[in-house]
Amino acid sequence: MFSFQYYTPTSVIFGRHTEGRVGELVQKTGCKKVLIHYGSGSVIRSGLLKRIQEALDEKGISYVMLGGVVPNPRLSLVYEGIDLCKKEQVDFILAVGGGSVIDSSKAIGYGMTNAGDVWDFYEHTRQADACLPIGVVLTIAASGSEMSNSSVITKDQGMVKRGYNHDVCRPVFAVMNPELTMTLPAYQTACGCTDILMHTMERYFTNGGNMELTDVLAEGLMRTVMKHARILRDDPDNYDSRAEVMWAGSLSHNGLTGCGSDGGDFATHGLEHEIGGMFDVAHGAGLAAIWGSWARYVRRDCLDRFYRFAVQVMGVVDAGTDTDAKDAVALKGIEAMEDFYRSIQMPTSLTELGISPTDEQLQTMAHMCSVAAGGVKGSAKKLEEKDMLQIYRMAVQSC
Ligand code: NZQ
Ligand code: ZN
Repeated sequence: MFSFQYYTPTSVIFGRHTEGRVGELVQKTGCKKVLIHYGSGSVIRSGLLKRIQEALDEKGISYVMLGGVVPNPRLSLVYEGIDLCKKEQVDFILAVGGGSVIDSSKAIGYGMTNAGDVWDFYEHTRQADACLPIGVVLTIAASGSEMSNSSVITKDQGMVKRGYNHDVCRPVFAVMNPELTMTLPAYQTACGCTDILMHTMERYFTNGGNMELTDVLAEGLMRTVMKHARILRDDPDNYDSRAEVMWAGSLSHNGLTGCGSDGGDFATHGLEHEIGGMFDVAHGAGLAAIWGSWARYVRRDCLDRFYRFAVQVMGVVDAGTDTDAKDAVALKGIEAMEDFYRSIQMPTSLTELGISPTDEQLQTMAHMCSVAAGGVKGSAKKLEEKDMLQIYRMAVQSC
């Protein structure tokens, strides 16, 4: 077990009708002018945006609005948001949406409190000192951004997708009403469940410091998400399953399922960010498409963890302790996970994801992934650029 710091300052307001409390929650912060930031229209169609405006009006809180955030949120809108917030003297950002809206809000928050170009943080050439306070009304269980220290932005020019982590961007509050996620298309619900699973799997497949309690929490979370993802596939209005998945989404990425480990692997995320940048695909689907190839490529370097995952999470029968027997079990665990992805209509290859990258494009992605990682990425196996390229090549067709 490694030493760790667990920091989760976000106040969670969970349950039906909780979005009605947003005026009171902003008022408590003492902030005077709010930017309501949202996406491409779902919150208008569902009537949520109107309810949020009413909740702020009720408390006499003034606000300006900026919509138009797209999945893989763009830097150009972040700049627009910073200009608007400066002009309007905004001191609080209310993100009404999913990970893309929250991440765009965090980037605007950095731009409002630090001089210079906000993109520097995403290129890791300097660190932020502060961020405007962020509140969230969550509409999709997926990214965990409502409690995480992370934001991921795509620079329009060249479609370069980069993440930046800093505790100052963790939201002040997150309003989570599972009912709000019932308007999601089935595909987005499945993408969200995949991302939630991956945030714990990235922390689980490591070669250092694993704690028994953290492992049991992680395994319970993964089993719970898979169970309720299947229920939601057949019964999308099931409130209890929406609630289980929504809470799992936050716990999966607020640090809880990595306490005591070496910080996690996160290579699958690194590989996906290049796919998302180049082909603008949904993040969760991109993860599902690459994970099986990553897992097959690295499993022998992290065999005990893959074996444990197969037995404890995927229900593969324990089949002996010599290396070959363990490897056979590990492989069955990987196959069972891919079967799960297929059961919720998630892709298990780049072809199934709907993209056909050329080998030159695969090489470019491998190069950019290694540059973004500072050379080497991963804990289950430390991946260099050549390993990344191998995984991309394996992922073109499903196994
Ligand atoms: O834009 P609108 O019209 O709202 O539509 C969105 C969008 O098309 C729609 N949607 C959201 N809530 C809805 C809804 N449609 C109907 N009803 C609702 N209730 O769903 C689509 C996807 O939304 P998005 O916010 O992009 O999804 P998600 O939460 O999966 O966020 C993905 C982004 O988060 C990043 C990803 O890379 C990606 O850019 N990530 C952020 C992380 C973080 N900050 O901690 C960690 C993750 O690993 C991830 O990298
Ligand atoms: Zn993710």
